[in-house]
Amino acid sequence: MNRPAMEGLRLNVPAYVRHARLVEWVAQVAALTEADNVHWCDGSAEEYQRLTEQLVAAGTLMKLDPVKRPRSFLARSDASDVARVEDRTFICSAHKDDAGPTNNWMDPREMREMLQTGENALFKGAMRGRTMYVVPFSMGPLGSHIAHIGVELTDSPYVAVSMRTMTRMGRGALDVLGDNGDFVPCVHTVGAPLAAGQKDVPWPCNPTKYIVHYPETREIWSYGSGYGGNALLGKKCFALRIASTMGRAQGWLAEHMLILGVTTPAGKKYHVAAAFPSACGKTNFSMLVPPAGYEGWKVTTIGDDIAWIKPHGDGRLYAINPEAGYFGVAPGTNDHTNPNCMASLKSDTIFTNVALTDDGDVWWEGMTEQPPAHLVDWQGRDWTPAFAKETGAKAAHPNARFTVAATANPVLDPEWDNPEGVAIDAFIFGGRRSTTVPLVTEARSWVEGVYMAATMGSETTAAMAGGNGAVRRDPFAMLPFVGYHMADYVQHWLNLGEKLAAGGATLPKIYCVNWFRKGQTDEDRGKFVWPGYGENMRVLEWLVGRIEGTAQGAENVFGTSPRFEDLRWNGLAFTREQFAAAIGIDKAAWQQELVLHTELFRQLESKLPAALPATKEQIEARLEKL
Ligand code: GTP
Ligand code: SPV
Ligand code: MN
Repeated sequence: MNRPAMEGLRLNVPAYVRHARLVEWVAQVAALTEADNVHWCDGSAEEYQRLTEQLVAAGTLMKLDPVKRPRSFLARSDASDVARVEDRTFICSAHKDDAGPTNNWMDPREMREMLQTGENALFKGAMRGRTMYVVPFSMGPLGSHIAHIGVELTDSPYVAVSMRTMTRMGRGALDVLGDNGDFVPCVHTVGAPLAAGQKDVPWPCNPTKYIVHYPETREIWSYGSGYGGNALLGKKCFALRIASTMGRAQGWLAEHMLILGVTTPAGKKYHVAAAFPSACGKTNFSMLVPPAGYEGWKVTTIGDDIAWIKPHGDGRLYAINPEAGYFGVAPGTNDHTNPNCMASLKSDTIFTNVALTDDGDVWWEGMTEQPPAHLVDWQGRDWTPAFAKETGAKAAHPNARFTVAATANPVLDPEWDNPEGVAIDAFIFGGRRSTTVPLVTEARSWVEGVYMAATMGSETTAAMAGGNGAVRRDPFAMLPFVGYHMADYVQHWLNLGEKLAAGGATLPKIYCVNWFRKGQTDEDRGKFVWPGYGENMRVLEWLVGRIEGTAQGAENVFGTSPRFEDLRWNGLAFTREQFAAAIGIDKAAWQQELVLHTELFRQLESKLPAALPATKEQIEARLEKL
């Protein structure tokens, strides 16, 4: 193989690298960014150890107490770099109409000029003084026919170590790639070159940020952020935005969905994929612990955030989790809400933007009822409960997260790494809605389910910069993650259903849930009506009963919901009145809600599938009679 000669820079290509196109591209990006050095990640434990030690020396990571939290670290990001930046995220398709009205778009030529080729292109010299890490990774089990390979070039060692946990990273991915395999090129810089002798900061980043996708050439270029989905490019950028465009072209789905297995006391196992928007309960639901009274039931995790789903020769949809780790929300996680998650975090975890206890452990809001008497907050400042009471200051950032391997999860499903995936029996869609949307509804048909998913609304959360609780339409929980026109995306779901049905397949049932209704009376105003978490098992049991044809329900305006007597209440004191508050349909609220559906349809007007307004008319007619 010809190794491009680089003046002034050794590419350090390991002997096992056999992919000439990859080496060529690495050389080009190293030249463009003027990286000081190139490191090819092999994904080994020694490498992880070396890089984390280096990050500790640089002040990016802090080693936590080796007894309380073995082999774990705390990272504090720059205070301005704490979440995905949706307004800085671009889909640069050749035609604006392909990105659609819900995505930011810029002409790809213009964007390339600004990032790569123009005189003051942002990536020019962006890695000066830094090492560029070559991070090969597989999204999905190595060699799975549903999986795909990516290579991320990044000047952030924090990203490199995080990618080892979040993906199948290293030599294994290169082996799959061989000497000529296809990969999605992902280029990432924190945008903070170092001049000779300049001292680095613990969390370098740039106030200017661009998270850019070129769907036609399947490339990702990310500038200025070191945080989460902005920087770990296998996750939202590849596994959702680029993969959704691949899935559209090739007849499969890339979804913002957890995947769980649920086993009944009779030993029957079903697989459910559920789409909830960011910070709306996917990780929680995927690790659910059945409450007392559910002995013999078992919930196991295949994935907690993303699903790649392909139709199979048997007419069913098979799903894999493209990821290998969890980048999950810390606040609100505790031994009651998500004990399996707490167990996963006992060791070998990188925490970002949580608070530090005086004995070298971590804490976040909601971890314990009583906060410790003193903490160092996520920005490195002293914090006490009294100070918090006075100022409202949070010890952990509301979007503080943990990065941990899936294999740490005590209820990891034995099939989680199966290259064939698991057959999906039901889809669930659910937003965070303090009013209006009932606890659970089963769609009467695929089209009605697609309608529910497409018109879903949710209150925005701290997972996005600027998230403030305002309700927005978030079709399929994919608003910030779809790589093409949202109306085409809905059409893709309709087409897939039609095609599977035409082949004689039984389609997965579709459900809409809402765990987040709040009380409207004086004594319970602002409190969640539904106990949630493990108690969501009661809804899951009903859903399994529906699949098995044993559970009853009553038809309503939108579909079929359980009546009070259709759920099992053993072990939970929950009254008919409370149930009504969690599941009731308020005519006036729904008339208002439908106005918001109309607004969405107007936004998607040019390509809106006719099935949506047609379904809406039926709902309106039924609502009128209520
Ligand atoms: P992303 O990683 O951003 O995609 O989030 P996610 O969808 O995985 O959400 P996660 O499970 O991390 O939950 C986010 C927040 O919602 C946490 O604070 C949880 O405690 C809370 N939450 C999860 N499930 C429930 C529930 O059933 N009821 C209530 N009230 N809160 C919940
Ligand atoms: C989300 O926001 O949906 C996440 C976190 O899962 S991030 O990786 O930052 O996208
Ligand atoms: Mn997510």
